[in-house]
Amino acid sequence: MSDIENPGAEVKVPLPVPLKPLGKVLAVTSGKGGVGKTFVSANLAAALAKRGKKVLVLDADLGLANLDVVLNLYPKVTLHDVFTGKAQLEEAIVRAPGGFSVLLAGSGMVEYSRLTPNVRDDFLRIISSLLPHYDIVLLDTGAGISDVVLFAVSLASEVLVVATPEPTSLTDAYATIKVLVGQQQRRTIRMVINQTNRMGDGRAITTQLQQVLDRFVVAKPGEKVRLIHMVDIPADISVRQAVMKRQLLLQTLPGCPAALAIAQLAAKLEDSLIAKET
Ligand SMILES: Nc1ncnc2c1ncn2[C@@H]1O[C@H](COP(=O)(O)OP(=O)(O)OP(=O)(O)O)[C@@H](O)[C@H]1O
Ligand SMILES: [Mg+2]
Repeated sequence: MSDIENPGAEVKVPLPVPLKPLGKVLAVTSGKGGVGKTFVSANLAAALAKRGKKVLVLDADLGLANLDVVLNLYPKVTLHDVFTGKAQLEEAIVRAPGGFSVLLAGSGMVEYSRLTPNVRDDFLRIISSLLPHYDIVLLDTGAGISDVVLFAVSLASEVLVVATPEPTSLTDAYATIKVLVGQQQRRTIRMVINQTNRMGDGRAITTQLQQVLDRFVVAKPGEKVRLIHMVDIPADISVRQAVMKRQLLLQTLPGCPAALAIAQLAAKLEDSLIAKET
């Protein structure tokens, strides 16, 4: 990974992926792993559902999917069965406790952690056929800049990068953003800073990242890359407790600080994204 103190350093990029953004698709991604993508995706889906939106979360972390664990769901049919032609797409869509739908990758998807033309086609076909049925599709992607992650992100109209205030998470977030700008011509990236300890930390971090981008990442002459700070989600003991119980935080403790932050994120997204689409 590149270092934020050496921000001009080249990031090794896998195969270039043409951008085919689809409306209403929001990718939740990160540079470093374990920063809270799945937690944010699942609870954001619940918050958007509570606001009356029809939401689907797709487990796009094909190799190391764990949305099923977080939601305590054990579906008989998964994306794996759809990919292999053993089941119809509709059979693999499960209702999650938070009032939204999920499409779980399931075990056996390791073979799909490599981006082959088949994986690309299947993914694109599935997302395209799902889109008309939902107000928003969230892609819970893997971390980093592997070709599968970048491909999943390339299908989204909007990208939400989750980072924590840890220096390693920030350098990796920077590397990811740099690739999304260079490879996918992204000009707007939404930031969620998770596990913050003080109010205002996330905004300061986003500003700092923006300054580094302004100095070292040139999109095209006259074009600026804009990071939009969406929300700070505080480090909250309730998150771990909910994950341990395999429950959605928004259902068990909707009034705790992290749940309130997610509800705020849903409201902001609805204003800026869904309203624009409809
Ligand atoms: N705001 C928070 N406060 C406290 N703990 C948190 C918070 N957000 C996430 N966590 C903890 O971090 C763990 C990892 O979160 P999660 O599985 O969502 O990360 P991820 O980015 O999806 O990981 P991966 O890259 O492996 O997919 C959670 O199980 C939870 O215990
Ligand atoms: Mg995850």
